[in-house]
Amino acid sequence: MPTLTVSGKTSEVAAGTRLVKAIEDAGVEIGHRCGGHARCTTCRVAFAEGEPDTMTRAEYDKLTERGMIGQHRLACQIVCDHDMAIAEVVMTRENQGWEDTGSAPEPTVTPDPATFPIDELRGA
Ligand code: FES
Repeated sequence: MPTLTVSGKTSEVAAGTRLVKAIEDAGVEIGHRCGGHARCTTCRVAFAEGEPDTMTRAEYDKLTERGMIGQHRLACQIVCDHDMAIAEVVMTRENQGWEDTGSAPEPTVTPDPATFPIDELRGA
């Protein structure tokens, strides 16, 4: 079972869990204002370790559009399939003053769970 370290706490996560959900389950009220569809970027995180070298096309396109490529990743577009450590959860209910974190993401990555090597997306 992969582990996730966030906010100084390490826990086991069922393989295939969306990272945004795993972070939430770890007790961090991460934003997911678009419901996990790669539209809002409120779920963005910085990795300390275990950053995947693949992305969904939706994540690549959104990070490129917002000028965030290479800085942050979208937790709603990543599944926990190996050990990961998160250095920063950028937007939380607490630090943004939101009443809630957004509608619940579906269990599987949306809009399309297929991932590609980042270099391949860059060249597309
Ligand atoms: S981009 Fe909106 S929840 Fe991930």
